[in-house]
Amino acid sequence: MEDKKIARVADRLSGIEEYYFSTKLRQIDEMNKAGRQVINLGIGSPDLPPHPDVIKVLQEEAEKPNQHGYQNYKGSPVLRNAIVKWYQKWYHVELNPDTEILPLIGSKEGIMHVCMTYINADDMVLIPNPGYPTYRSAAKIAGASIHAYSLSKENDWCPDFEELEKLDLQKVKLMFVNYPQMPTGQLPTKEMFGELIAFAKKHQILIVHDNPYSFILNDNPMSLLSIEGAKDVVIELNSFSKSHNMAGWRVGMLCGAKERINEVLKFKSNMDSGMFLPVQLAAAKALELEQSWYESVNAVYRKRRKKVYELLSLLNCSFDENQAGLFVWAAIPKEYKDGFELTDRVLADSNVFLTPGGIFGSAGVKYIRVSLCATEEKLSEAINRIKK
Ligand SMILES: Cc1ncc(COP(=O)(O)O)c(C=O)c1O
Repeated sequence: MEDKKIARVADRLSGIEEYYFSTKLRQIDEMNKAGRQVINLGIGSPDLPPHPDVIKVLQEEAEKPNQHGYQNYKGSPVLRNAIVKWYQKWYHVELNPDTEILPLIGSKEGIMHVCMTYINADDMVLIPNPGYPTYRSAAKIAGASIHAYSLSKENDWCPDFEELEKLDLQKVKLMFVNYPQMPTGQLPTKEMFGELIAFAKKHQILIVHDNPYSFILNDNPMSLLSIEGAKDVVIELNSFSKSHNMAGWRVGMLCGAKERINEVLKFKSNMDSGMFLPVQLAAAKALELEQSWYESVNAVYRKRRKKVYELLSLLNCSFDENQAGLFVWAAIPKEYKDGFELTDRVLADSNVFLTPGGIFGSAGVKYIRVSLCATEEKLSEAINRIKK
């Protein structure tokens, strides 16, 4: 009783840091209050709107009096059917709308649900280094021990299966993978996807493929579920945030075998009570958009990317021009100790915020990441500030 204290935070949060951007945005807020007008090239939140037809459905449906109740835990059949057609059309993957799909409040929440569904205290989870920081924190919160598998430029930012085979894989339950990869922009190949499936089958590991970037600056969207036999060992997260400019709407999906969907639903149905129906119906509309939608979005990002190349060249950074996704990943010049030093300097001297690659893991410390979610005018202004 003597050391009892009110609201002592649970042990599961020890070692979990506040999300880097949440702290950094507070600092940027303070700078802006002091009149610094920081240009934020850090975060991948699309600044362009969704297609007008999508917003129209949201408005029309929200005006109806009978659309405001709790929803089915498995999501609206309209949305599930739209997801099936979208997966068929773009990824050539067959899914059952009644059993193999679970709409989510974004891919990020799916990562947490998957961890809570499968991880026991003694289990090990493989996460990519560099990779999206949420894989680590969600797995840790769920009680897993973590092994960060290194990705390197020399190996085209792909898992090194020889290295992985050297580990004691007995306790590994889940492996997170994400292609097109964030933050490196690396595209997948069919061969690498095939190797992943073989690796997962051999060691009985559930692969969680996080696939939110496949339509951004990429003409050949791929799903890991398109590989033969994938449903036995893969579940795939996907999202409307980047591909349809709907990050604030919070809509995503989990696709996989019926058994996996039911397992995750067991956890999720105790966490929330379904998504607002007009949001689901508007999301279904978004999935019906033609190729011209993706082309129009990518035309804008392509122009912006040229500006980002200019900015990076000014900073003497080097980069690969075949990257997909909402960012450009670039190696820093030798005069900087790490990406933190470079980005802190640019923020202090030029009021431009870039992301240090080290927040994605130790393999990213010599890199920075620049977002394409800013207008060409903003990017030109950032270039001018850095020139000065
Ligand atoms: C790799 C990766 N996965 C998932 C997410 C989150 O996506 P959502 O908005 O669908 O939760 C992001 C967002 O930045 C991301 O970069």
